[in-house]
Amino acid sequence: MTQYPMVSGELPGSKSNQLQLRKVAAVSNGVGTVFPSYIQSASDGLLVDVDGNHLIDLGSGIGVTGVGNANSAVVQAVTEQVSKFTHTAFAVTPYEPYIRVCELLNELTPGSFEKKSALFNSGAEAVENAVKIARYVTKRQAIVVLEYGYHGRTNLTMAMTAKSMPFKHGFGPFAPEVYRLPTSNPLIDGLSGSDAAELTIGRIEKEIGGANLAAIVVEPVQGEGGFIVPAAGFLKALAEFSKKVGAILIADEIQSGFCRTGEWFASEHHGIEPDLITTAKGIAGGMPLSAVTGRAEIMDQIHPGGLGGTYTGNPVACAAAIAAMEWMVTQDANQMAKDIEKTIKSVLNKLAIQHPEIAEVRGMGAMVAIEFLSTSDRKPMAAEVSKIAASCHKAGVVVLTSGMHGNVIRFLPPLSIPTDILASGLEIFAEKVTEVLGN
Ligand SMILES: Cc1ncc(COP(=O)(O)O)c(C=O)c1O
Repeated sequence: MTQYPMVSGELPGSKSNQLQLRKVAAVSNGVGTVFPSYIQSASDGLLVDVDGNHLIDLGSGIGVTGVGNANSAVVQAVTEQVSKFTHTAFAVTPYEPYIRVCELLNELTPGSFEKKSALFNSGAEAVENAVKIARYVTKRQAIVVLEYGYHGRTNLTMAMTAKSMPFKHGFGPFAPEVYRLPTSNPLIDGLSGSDAAELTIGRIEKEIGGANLAAIVVEPVQGEGGFIVPAAGFLKALAEFSKKVGAILIADEIQSGFCRTGEWFASEHHGIEPDLITTAKGIAGGMPLSAVTGRAEIMDQIHPGGLGGTYTGNPVACAAAIAAMEWMVTQDANQMAKDIEKTIKSVLNKLAIQHPEIAEVRGMGAMVAIEFLSTSDRKPMAAEVSKIAASCHKAGVVVLTSGMHGNVIRFLPPLSIPTDILASGLEIFAEKVTEVLGN
């Protein structure tokens, strides 16, 4: 049986290095490449680079290819659609796949009420539109976001994103009326969900006033923030408060949605039914598509033409999304995520016994992270985490870092990754942790 990763010589290889020279010459310096092995094909958990190396993919292109890369159902749907027509603009001359995506989203997202959807291109665009809708409907302006949150890189979503470098640094001024308040981060604050919520709600009441609040935007499992899972009851309390003051609860499920956490949406773990949900990433097997789904009585208040854009709900992306969502239903992708969680956590929990610097192994389903804090002063170990990630890359395993302090490694493999490939990637990761921490 072939053993993965399959790497010959140094990574990146010579052809990748040549491409990187062209990249440096032609592509803006502002566009980074963390691991410049250039990819020419990919499948379930494997990335094949231009030098023929087979790398293990534990990041899914930042949580996108949940159904696997070049998933055959997605490829077939895209191929069929692309040979029929590639674009008309739904707002001018519409087409059925857009409607089918909305029907599926209305059905699959949490909430036992009538829902409607609107489609966009990127995650940030979905978040922008959810905020637009919330402000329009409530006729209020204040938007509450949480510490460690990440919502995108457009002007409004930069204001909503917590971390300055690299996302916001030098790009201000940012959009007004966005208020960042404490979240529940059990490892750091040690608070119960209800105590953490009391703090946050108290701040909203004093600093903003419930009557001015348009929306609270939460990530049910924080993505870029380092897979922080709020303590039980925190989001439920925010949802109840939001309802009480007539505001809108927006769950940003762009990273945590589509079976990633072992449920269709991570909101379900918290027992909340958000008024609006933003989705993107895992929705369409790698094709660019995003959505806002929510209560019909909210979504329908917007005037015709108020939501949209030239490419929004592109037919090829919609065909991919339909195939991806049907694949998740028929293949029981939630069970795949639960199995992946067991495999990852069994390796990481053992590693945590060996290395006291591992402060926490957390997450749900195929969305698991490991945080490193120094044993002497509990300071974030960003330099060591960078070294671990770089050593994994050199060995042919793609892992992603995250967290406000860059001291978290997050695992979000394709849900379709074969167990032996996942196990091999984790084994290499464990070796590199031990090499770098040296105990
Ligand atoms: C929770 C969350 N919201 C919004 C975004 C922005 O999505 P996009 O990069 O597609 O604009 C991301 C991207 O990582 C995300 O994780």
